[in-house]
Amino acid sequence: MSVRRLDAEQPESFAFDADNGRWAQEQIGRYPEGKQASAVISLLWRAQEQNGGWLPEPAIRHVAELLDMAYIRVYEIATFYTMFNLSPVGKYFVQLCGTTPCMLRGSDDLKAVCRKVIGEPGHVTEDGLFSWIEVECLGACVNAPTVQINKDYFEDLTGESFEALLADLRAGREVAPGPQVDRQFSCPIGGPTTLTGTSNGRAAPETQTAPAKATVSDADRPEGLESAREGGADDLKRINGIGPKIERSLNGLGVFHFDQIAAWTDETAAWVDGHLRFKGRARREDWIGQARALAEEEGA
Ligand code: FES
Repeated sequence: MSVRRLDAEQPESFAFDADNGRWAQEQIGRYPEGKQASAVISLLWRAQEQNGGWLPEPAIRHVAELLDMAYIRVYEIATFYTMFNLSPVGKYFVQLCGTTPCMLRGSDDLKAVCRKVIGEPGHVTEDGLFSWIEVECLGACVNAPTVQINKDYFEDLTGESFEALLADLRAGREVAPGPQVDRQFSCPIGGPTTLTGTSNGRAAPETQTAPAKATVSDADRPEGLESAREGGADDLKRINGIGPKIERSLNGLGVFHFDQIAAWTDETAAWVDGHLRFKGRARREDWIGQARALAEEEGA
């Protein structure tokens, strides 16, 4: 591990605010007499949260005083654990996993996006919104590549989807943590492939994302078809971001063909996106543009 030093610029002082002070006393009170030092990690963590995501030197002293510990002991802890940031971080603090599974699944592309959009590791953008560092395994390798932004994980990222995610955060748009493809938790992409039946031979209940509402009628709902045209439905899964589950939902809306999606307006895409509860995915993954290209390909 590299040497971790305190930031060159430090505030004059630090003290817990009233709420955190009360909370700290409760934490300390949980331990038997003489064992109050056991609260050191949680107090340092709360101090970091109060200070906008990083731990200044006066906070280390404050915690040492509260716990009646030698300052050097608390300093050792703060500088040993990488969960404590010793320099200012952005409002959105990106921890990018570069360990082998994530590296094999494209974390270098995500690093390139960080360098392009944010700058070098540790740099805080002028507007104070972003900073990033590379970290070791975040424990979400099955959905690699993964980044943690503040307390949320964003998984199954590509360079494009990650850049779009940062743009959404910058614009103050709502983002959806978790897998950024058609995957529930750590199930296989597209849905479970095992344990799909029960011992009595019946199909197991659907466990994928909550079913879309069956009936919504407003002006932006896409015009549907009773069934696929002659020759059968197009394989909508060819659109990046649409898996079997979403394809079934689209078919349920009467959408079977690329040219139907290609004809959507932005409002229609937003309606479908909201209906399927994918919080911006249709726009982010440019389903309309992809469908347009595929429709042309089919017609060629
Ligand atoms: S290797 Fe990236 S989350 Fe484990």
